[in-house]
Amino acid sequence: MKLSVPGRATATAVVAAVSLLTGGSIAGAAPAAGPAGSAAEPALAAAPDIPVANVKAHLTQLQSIATANGGNRAHGRAGYKASLDYVKAKLDAAGYTTTIQQFTSSGRVGYNLIADWPGGDTSRVLMAGSHLDSVSSGAGINDNGSGSAAVLETALAVARAGHQPAKHLRFAWWGAEELGLVGSRYYVNNLSSANRARISGYLNFDMIGSPNPGYFVYDDDPAIEKTFKDYFTGLGVPTEIETEGDGRSDHAPFKSAGVPVGGLFTGASRTKSAAQAAKWGGTAGQAFDRCYHSSCDTTANINDTALNRNSDALAHAVWELSE
Ligand code: TRP
Ligand code: ZN
Repeated sequence: MKLSVPGRATATAVVAAVSLLTGGSIAGAAPAAGPAGSAAEPALAAAPDIPVANVKAHLTQLQSIATANGGNRAHGRAGYKASLDYVKAKLDAAGYTTTIQQFTSSGRVGYNLIADWPGGDTSRVLMAGSHLDSVSSGAGINDNGSGSAAVLETALAVARAGHQPAKHLRFAWWGAEELGLVGSRYYVNNLSSANRARISGYLNFDMIGSPNPGYFVYDDDPAIEKTFKDYFTGLGVPTEIETEGDGRSDHAPFKSAGVPVGGLFTGASRTKSAAQAAKWGGTAGQAFDRCYHSSCDTTANINDTALNRNSDALAHAVWELSE
């Protein structure tokens, strides 16, 4: 029948238009519930823009916490627990179910903070996390206030949007990363094998506002890597594969346990090359972060553009990979 042909074409065009508007992925979506070709799939929600001013406001608070506690937020020090209390209070007020997981390392008590967003299929959990501890020599605002603040603001954006993805969302802030990935390893080691198998992906954010930034994507799970790369391609920002020490952050214990992982990174003590400065701007022959692990890792040690792009990429991945 002739009428059915334009009818179907119209439905397809509507789906395509909605997909363009929302940035949703039809290819990755669940099959439509109705008979083939009969119904449009539900429009997939696009991630909101993450206000970089909000991310920076969290960094200001973490800086104040360090300043009030001997200049750092290190494992076993008062500044670490104060950082954790700050993040937890924001999440509790937004409706998260938060859990503090306690462990001991080097004779001092440490903590992970886990925040579950109620809803979604708990047999398919998407996690995003960052280490919240600094080294003892400084406030740790790029390393890793940056990742911690961006993960926090993304979690708060989920709550503001009333977002209810198909998967269950879980956010994490790890303790004692700087002592050797202690908190994240403790979390993974204490998961039952059933609960480990429920984690469909772990996204890691450690140093995403470096002052002389590069745009590095972890070369791990291909689908996660593609999600990040495609986002930056859409911004017109070239990326490179992260090579400054694979396994040097909290994704490593997840990867070892067989969980698909990915993440973003803007560089630590390695030097930016002339070719990298040509495509990203910044200063060739200088470290991505000259204040890495030192006392000058303060709120002055952040590139706002890098922090903004990486925060938006984080939210994009959380939305897209939880469909
Ligand atoms: N995790 C390291 C730290 O906190 C920083 C780092 C070095 C890193 N190489 C990395 C983080 C590669 C992510 C990816 O000091
Ligand atoms: Zn560090």
